[in-house]
Amino acid sequence: MLAFVPIDGHNIAGVLALEPAPEQADFIDTVEESLRKAAKRPSWKPYAIVNGAGKSIGFIVFGYGGGNECGRTEIVTLLIDKFEQNKGCGKEAVRLAVEFLAREGLTRRIHLDYDPGNEAAKHIYAQAGFLERGLDDYGEMLMEKDI
Ligand SMILES: CC(C)(COP(=O)(O)OP(=O)(O)OC[C@H]1O[C@@H](n2cnc3c(N)ncnc32)[C@H](O)[C@@H]1OP(=O)(O)O)[C@@H](O)C(=O)NCCC(=O)NCCS
Repeated sequence: MLAFVPIDGHNIAGVLALEPAPEQADFIDTVEESLRKAAKRPSWKPYAIVNGAGKSIGFIVFGYGGGNECGRTEIVTLLIDKFEQNKGCGKEAVRLAVEFLAREGLTRRIHLDYDPGNEAAKHIYAQAGFLERGLDDYGEMLMEKDI
């Protein structure tokens, strides 16, 4: 059973210790870099993904759109720590993210992008009903899901 928990002095050390597997390093920013970016963007909300034992096993950042983008929320980053992968946590985190954003009521469409070589990301988002919308200008695959 996973939960999203705001990042504060109690869990920051555990969150900063989270890492992708070495071959996944190019797929996302480091946690430190993501937190640095989030600190400069009030519309980005980072959370620790915490397991039933209270341990941070992953990290997720939502980016809420404003203005013309109102109602569109991006999953900016999703990371499950290298030691916790392939146990179903990624799929549960995506399911939870959809529920979480739906419950908040601010989001009508969730979007994200991923490196087309990132088969695990493609797989878990497709299973959760995200639809591919083609490559963006940076060669990343866009996906969307209406909620
Ligand atoms: C993508 C990521 C979040 C998945 O987390 P996870 O906890 O391993 O995911 P799960 O265990 O729930 O599910 C993994 C699924 O992907 C599949 N998978 C894993 N590696 C795969 C690969 N190389 N090719 C195809 N499928 C793969 C697994 O078989 C599993 O599917 P199944 O249960 O239907 O068999 C995790 O790998 C990660 O943090 N990667 C680094 C950061 C990243 O790439 N984030 C996404 C960027 S948008």
